[in-house]
Amino acid sequence: MWRNAIAPCQPDPKLYGVEINEEVVVKKDILTLSDLTRQDMIDLFDLAGELKARYKQGIVDDFLKGRVLGLIFDKHSTRTRVSFEAAMNQIGGSVIYMSSGDMQIARDEPVKDTARVLSRYIDALVVRTYSQELIEAYAAYADIPVINALSDRYHPCQVLSDLLTIIEHKGECEGQKIVWLGDGNNVANSWINAAAVLGLNLVLACPKGYQPDEELLKMAVAQGHGTVSVTGDPREAVRDADVIYTDVWASMGQENERASRIKAFEGFQLDNELVSLAADDVVVMHCLPAHRDEEIAEDVLEGERSIVWDQAENKLHMHKAVLKVLIENNLSQ
Ligand code: CP
Ligand code: NVA
Repeated sequence: MWRNAIAPCQPDPKLYGVEINEEVVVKKDILTLSDLTRQDMIDLFDLAGELKARYKQGIVDDFLKGRVLGLIFDKHSTRTRVSFEAAMNQIGGSVIYMSSGDMQIARDEPVKDTARVLSRYIDALVVRTYSQELIEAYAAYADIPVINALSDRYHPCQVLSDLLTIIEHKGECEGQKIVWLGDGNNVANSWINAAAVLGLNLVLACPKGYQPDEELLKMAVAQGHGTVSVTGDPREAVRDADVIYTDVWASMGQENERASRIKAFEGFQLDNELVSLAADDVVVMHCLPAHRDEEIAEDVLEGERSIVWDQAENKLHMHKAVLKVLIENNLSQ
């Protein structure tokens, strides 16, 4: 089960009135995809698929009735925020959206105090911010599930819903050649984690200087039963690909590098010529928001191989599954 099911560093066990020891299962978080086992992921795909089917049939679920989800976002968001909020509302719960700029945390109240106080009010916390360590600090001090909704380092829930989308379109994800094209960024890192856990065939084509973190790659190769490789040659990478995935060249927080990155990523635009080198039934993915005619050609994004709208939709269904599993697990403790 979830590798962080053991509280990672409870600050003061006496605060909880219980002795924390290594055997006590406290809660599950999703901070990175390395927190999940293969079976955890398969269970989430199954549950999200089931919840999606029920929703499409007009069945109204309310298994989180009376439960409250908190969201703290330090970066912009359309899909992740709205899909988490809609998901929680659709399964009977309610949502409080918080901007950390409005909270006492902006006036130096420590994260450890914020996390413990919020744990007394809400049932789960979704955080989007810059620092992965900050999300980990929330998780360490909260006794409710903490969900990473994107950091500079990872975007785990994005990749969970992306995998669900691949399963829907291709029947499975393990046997597919999945190509990451572009920046070795937070989404790419979560793909590397997923590849290690699930045993995927993942090829990352990134320009020199923008390749994913070496240590992360080494860990994935050591842990994984699939294959993860990196190349600087986009044409070679996409040959016979079943899935081609791209993302912006300058992520949130890197806006001032945009001009230099556009130069460095020359030849990495996902255009029709690259698509033509892939398998005939290749699907094109992008987590969005997209910069048209920068990392992806407009006609590819809007073209018949693109599944980006299904991909965006599945964030709703996957987030329902994530909330159900994490919150119900914590209530059963
Ligand atoms: N894909 C994604 O996370 O989109 P948002 O930034 O709009 O949440
Ligand atoms: N890599 C992008 C993903 C946005 C969903 C970013 O961090 O801005």
